[in-house]
Amino acid sequence: MLNRIEKEKLLGQKGLVIWMTGLSGAGKTTIGVALENHLHNDGVLTQLLDGDIIREGLNNNLGFSDDDRKENIRRIAETAKLFVNCGIITICCFVSPTNEIRNIAKKIIGEKDFIEVYINASLETCEKRDVKGLYAKARRGEIKDFTGIGSPYEIPLNPHLEIKTNEVTLEEGVKKIIDYISKHN
Ligand code: ADX
Repeated sequence: MLNRIEKEKLLGQKGLVIWMTGLSGAGKTTIGVALENHLHNDGVLTQLLDGDIIREGLNNNLGFSDDDRKENIRRIAETAKLFVNCGIITICCFVSPTNEIRNIAKKIIGEKDFIEVYINASLETCEKRDVKGLYAKARRGEIKDFTGIGSPYEIPLNPHLEIKTNEVTLEEGVKKIIDYISKHN
């Protein structure tokens, strides 16, 4: 079997996971998509993995109990690892609400390939944005374990990067990650 080094040599890049965590509506997907476009334009091969999409396919049998969220993240991390072993920059956008869950992902992927980015927007901000109308539903009691309302979000203890999406522009947020990748890789 061909190994990672041979694939990275072919692509002329190094595999890495950019793991974005934050509340629903904090801006993970928005930043992920912009980051992917930026890297693509620079000739870098990427793969974006996003909660809403993965939960319609690979993980369509999982809900939002603690156990299901753990299984969700376990499968995603194993998937991300496959991409990384192909030399691909893999951008993961998942609420991944607890330190335990994020540690599961880090352990599977491996610490040296795992960049944790805390996409920080206050609950108040996310609830005001309420792009998908889910906060309103959660407040009405229609989603009982919604992160930030009926289910906890633990602030990352020691993320590599933190992006406050109501303080910086999208371009500034993306640049912060690009600068970090450039140094790391
Ligand atoms: S995670 O907690 O298991 O990491 P994931 O990122 O896959 O969550 O999915 C989060 C997305 O699912 C949210 O952006 C939102 O659109 C939707 N969602 C539906 N129900 C919930 C819920 N109870 N808690 C959080 N997100 C939910």
